[in-house]
Amino acid sequence: MTTDELQQIEHLQQQLHNQEKMASLGMLSAGIAHEIQNPLNFVINFSKMSEKLLDDLMDIVDECKEKLGDDDAEEIIEISEDLKENLSKIEEHGQRAINIIRSILLQSRGKDDEFFATDICELVHEYVWLSYHAMRANDKNFNIAIKEEYPQNMTKKMVVPQDLCRAVLNVMNNACYTVKEKETLAADKDYHPEINVKVVDGEQDFSIVVTDNGMGMNDEVRSKLFDTFFTTKPVGKGTGLGMSITNDIITKKHKGKILVDTIPGEGTTFTFIIPNSLKK
Ligand SMILES: Nc1ncnc2c1ncn2[C@@H]1O[C@H](COP(=O)(O)OP(=O)(O)O)[C@@H](O)[C@H]1O
Ligand SMILES: [Mg+2]
Repeated sequence: MTTDELQQIEHLQQQLHNQEKMASLGMLSAGIAHEIQNPLNFVINFSKMSEKLLDDLMDIVDECKEKLGDDDAEEIIEISEDLKENLSKIEEHGQRAINIIRSILLQSRGKDDEFFATDICELVHEYVWLSYHAMRANDKNFNIAIKEEYPQNMTKKMVVPQDLCRAVLNVMNNACYTVKEKETLAADKDYHPEINVKVVDGEQDFSIVVTDNGMGMNDEVRSKLFDTFFTTKPVGKGTGLGMSITNDIITKKHKGKILVDTIPGEGTTFTFIIPNSLKK
């Protein structure tokens, strides 16, 4: 065997290994997500019920105020207000966890690659905000100006909605991350994080365009962008899977193209171009 062949085998082995890792990771996280959903629903529902019970309790306290004396009544009201606040925190954060789990389940759902006539603008809008809220859930103080531009009366397109939404989510998540990173590093206090989202309808194809004014990419990052497991993010923040999956979804499944325009320090525009006449 030549060294070339050996190298090729090694490369294929590595690829196989990566794919296996990816598949088992996906199954594992889907399984965990599913199992966590039920107990989380319990947490949220019981906290809602407790809030109602607390209201009932306060009505009773109100009725027997005279019997209680001012000090006691005041203390009871104070404690109950604290309790209420705690319950609403439990509910809020439980809801947050549920949202995260929903997006994990969505990402790892089976191999349903069915094409459906889909309202692209609705899909894009929904996932743009899903990504935004997921990010905001981690950092309430972080604000991004999100601008959206959609054509009116766009006909439905044949796409695999489950996959296309993942692609939108992946690009949006990266956009949110990069503007946030830039804000954190920004020397100029005049920096305003901004993400523009646009859908363009054409005769032959339609496009989804996402522009951020974040960090941009240098040539090295740009050239590895679509590689499986390539990430510049710290452990726990990035998996390096997003863009490689997105590339498969757009170029392989939807026979489309991804254009990347990026200027280091200025920002990036991702354009998905998807033909209108896909296999039905
Ligand atoms: N909008 C963007 N701006 C700057 N860099 C980006 C952007 N999108 C992707 N990248 C770069 O490409 C890398 C790979 O992205 P991705 O495949 O989504 O993996 P991950 O987000 O887990 O790192 C990122 O780590 C980042 O360096
Ligand atoms: Mg990503």
